[in-house]
Amino acid sequence: MISDFLGKPADLNLKQSKIESDRFGISVARMSVSIDCLATDLEIVRVCNESSADLLILRFPSSRTQLARELAGISNKIAFQADTLVYFSKDLRSIVERRSTSENWKLVTATSKDESSVIDLARVVFRDYPNHYQSNRALSSKLILDGYVEWASKGLNDPEKSTVIIEDQNSNAIAFALVTFGEEGAEIELNGVHPDFQNQGVYSSLLELLMVKLASQNVEKLFISTQIQNTKVIKAWIKAGFTLDFSLNTFHLVSRQSV
Ligand SMILES: CC(C)(COP(=O)(O)OP(=O)(O)OC[C@H]1O[C@@H](n2cnc3c(N)ncnc32)[C@H](O)[C@@H]1OP(=O)(O)O)[C@@H](O)C(=O)NCCC(=O)NCCS
Repeated sequence: MISDFLGKPADLNLKQSKIESDRFGISVARMSVSIDCLATDLEIVRVCNESSADLLILRFPSSRTQLARELAGISNKIAFQADTLVYFSKDLRSIVERRSTSENWKLVTATSKDESSVIDLARVVFRDYPNHYQSNRALSSKLILDGYVEWASKGLNDPEKSTVIIEDQNSNAIAFALVTFGEEGAEIELNGVHPDFQNQGVYSSLLELLMVKLASQNVEKLFISTQIQNTKVIKAWIKAGFTLDFSLNTFHLVSRQSV
């Protein structure tokens, strides 16, 4: 989440991740190093070194160019880079409603009645989605996909978040986005288009309609992130006027005792 990386200069907080521990059947911990974090690389390494988790998922700004080498020196863990995440954002204050790019699709706010549609969409959209979990051969692809589906389902039922769906002319859900709200603005946590409807401009319409909706709710900024190799979605954001804010490295630190 964007709030993990902005405006928390003093925080170096290693947390157990119950949801991931339960899913993968190993102890999983997480640590997110914010952009303005004051801790030195060696302090970060010390905290990682003391973690007893089977898997520690560490995210830190890519600008910490020396940290990877220091992590490789932790003797009781295997450390490897699992992905690079890029964060983009767009100022929504100047958004004005324009005629939609397509008459064929409409944006609706999903409710709990749409749960099966959202789950079905998440399952096909994220089936082969490259992410940091996929870089770790010890984690099952099925459980990884189950995690995305659970994320979409929990998000739909979370009153502090909002899920929108793009429906086609027959009211079939063909794309969705899960949006969360915070001090910094809104963030798209998950989004995607059904494979049968890709390359037809559905995603560009989703972005356009969602930005108009959020602007009308006085949301000033919209954030989104993805893995750097996901060029298709990044191109769509650039076309929609988003700009690059920062990038993060995701490392997996695997306890040598657990392998
Ligand atoms: C990435 C993703 C959301 C894009 O969705 P999409 O609906 O295919 O996107 P669009 O159709 O708007 O744009 C895709 C391409 O189709 C082109 N296109 C748009 N309208 C078109 C049309 N009518 N006919 C042909 N091509 C068209 C676009 O120009 C774009 O081409 P480009 O990549 O060369 O610029 C989709 O591939 C997806 O769900 N991927 C898996 C999950 C994922 O990556 N989610 C994002 C995580 S952050």
